[in-house]
Amino acid sequence: MCGIVGYIGNKSGTDIVMKGLEALEYRGYDSAGIALINGDKSQVFKQVGRVSGLAKEVDEKAPEAHLVMGHTRWATHGGVTVQNAHPQANNDQTIFVVHNGIIENFAEIRAKLKAEGYHFDSQTDTEVVPNLIDFYLKQLPSFEDAFKAALGDVRGAYSIVAVSSKEPETLYAARLSSPLVVGVGDGENILASDPSAIMEHTKKVIYLEDYDVAVITKDKVSVHNLKEGKQTEPKVELLDFENEQALLGDYPNFMLKEIFEAPATIKTATLGRARADQGIVKLGGLESVLRQLKHVDRIVIVACGTSYYAGLVGEYLIEELAGVPVEVHLASEFKYRDEPFSRSTVLLAISQSGETADTIAALKKVEDYGVLRLGIVNAVGSTIARMTDAGVYCHAGPEKAVASTKAFIAQVTILTEIALHLSDGKHKLFKPLLKELGDLPAKAQVVLDSAEDIKKIAEKYADYRDFLFIGRNNAYPSAMEGALKLKEISYVHAEGYAAGEMKHGPLAMIDANFPTFAIATNSQLLEKTCSNIQEIKARKGPVVAIATQGNKTIKDLCDDVIYIPATLEETQPILHAIATQLFAYYIAQHKGLDVDRPRNLAKSVTVE
Ligand code: F6R
Repeated sequence: MCGIVGYIGNKSGTDIVMKGLEALEYRGYDSAGIALINGDKSQVFKQVGRVSGLAKEVDEKAPEAHLVMGHTRWATHGGVTVQNAHPQANNDQTIFVVHNGIIENFAEIRAKLKAEGYHFDSQTDTEVVPNLIDFYLKQLPSFEDAFKAALGDVRGAYSIVAVSSKEPETLYAARLSSPLVVGVGDGENILASDPSAIMEHTKKVIYLEDYDVAVITKDKVSVHNLKEGKQTEPKVELLDFENEQALLGDYPNFMLKEIFEAPATIKTATLGRARADQGIVKLGGLESVLRQLKHVDRIVIVACGTSYYAGLVGEYLIEELAGVPVEVHLASEFKYRDEPFSRSTVLLAISQSGETADTIAALKKVEDYGVLRLGIVNAVGSTIARMTDAGVYCHAGPEKAVASTKAFIAQVTILTEIALHLSDGKHKLFKPLLKELGDLPAKAQVVLDSAEDIKKIAEKYADYRDFLFIGRNNAYPSAMEGALKLKEISYVHAEGYAAGEMKHGPLAMIDANFPTFAIATNSQLLEKTCSNIQEIKARKGPVVAIATQGNKTIKDLCDDVIYIPATLEETQPILHAIATQLFAYYIAQHKGLDVDRPRNLAKSVTVE
């Protein structure tokens, strides 16, 4: 949700902030804006639509400035209008604020400020902040004091950056449950929602913590923690990924690039971890909690969206290989449940961004239970990575397309490794599966090599309004993930169903206009899935299937078949995912849609 960039330094902040906004546009793309402070003059440029539109206006009209901040919005409070775009200002147009998150008590603050004579021009929750700072500035000696006092009144989740036309040398920032990172440069500092807007300029970063208030000039970053009530020493860390990973290269969009990164993603996720030659799985990130893991009696996985479906695949893997009971919960539901917990339960959060508000809330919920909290996270240094006791990084590199693709591949690969690790080498599949993980990148490449065939099939089905995805056992989460991919980027109504449930309801929908995507790769349950396909065909429903290379019978049964290489049943979901990602991608592309930035969505969901 919403991307924030701020710059103070010797260079032209206007260019740096605009480039940063482009890098963060995946977080929200309803509207964008920047505020520039030059001497005691301020200027604001805002537009509805993409950053590129704003960039044009800024290029033509905006001067260079050394204090600049910008925002790319994903609307929560108030429609997509210029008025509601950020920065939001106080009534005197001297204080400017950009904000990511939600201010829950904004209505109350707004009423209080109205009674003091303030007026409001937007429908946003954010507009109360510059006015509240203004209100306190009339009573307190400094902007910093007024900023802190305003934050003291605000309830909710936020990252906020504020500037004043009276302080052209300083950026003020605060975070609570919403990410902000400061890039530390030489004679300049850059503030952003995530490192992709920073890494071109510096690899040195400071991740702000909850309740931190940062005062940033070109030479200094000082941090005060409101909860601790004192100054803290900011920890400077080094970013460990390369800029190229966040660039498009020769691909037409990030989604295709990221789908094609599957083989490399599996390799990186297994490198040094799944050691088939030595017959061991070594997960460095879990070393510190090995003793606790020996006594685990239940694993509760919490996640959202695609990460949740990866968790469901993990449930099959961990229960089968390690014999540990697993429950997978949607984080948004889990946080409101009264779930019995024992000390030997482990909570495992899965998240690409590491910033998903619901998953963070689920982790916070068990904070005082004394249970071990683990993470499978892609974004290094993100909130979830930092708030968990231990975990395994995906190391998939930045994922920029809104639809998650390579992160799912990495998550399932790591869940396989965790299952193997917990099995203590005792399961009969331990060695074969370790070996298969080594062979999997090449098999993933084979699926990618059939992209043109998948494209042809996808185009044939591009005009249907509805789609059912079915599978059994661990292909059931594959079906749900396939349906999610299709609906989110091509706006086709799609449902993922357990194939065995067809007769319990969904079969009623089937006719010649309602196709089914059947995941029918070789497994113990393949015959049963084939019976379901027969039942669909008997009702004239068109069927596309994913099948294992060499299965000729399925060709007679279905209208179209996407073949994938033979692999163990346990690793099939990884190959299913690549095929369903490509299928959804080509349908969306055929419809001329923006695959990287589907309507109404944003990459990291930092509000509830
Ligand atoms: C779907 C998708 C979302 C995310 C979900 C969780 O393609 O991208 O469903 O998977 O918002 O996000 P993370 O993994 O960042 O917690």
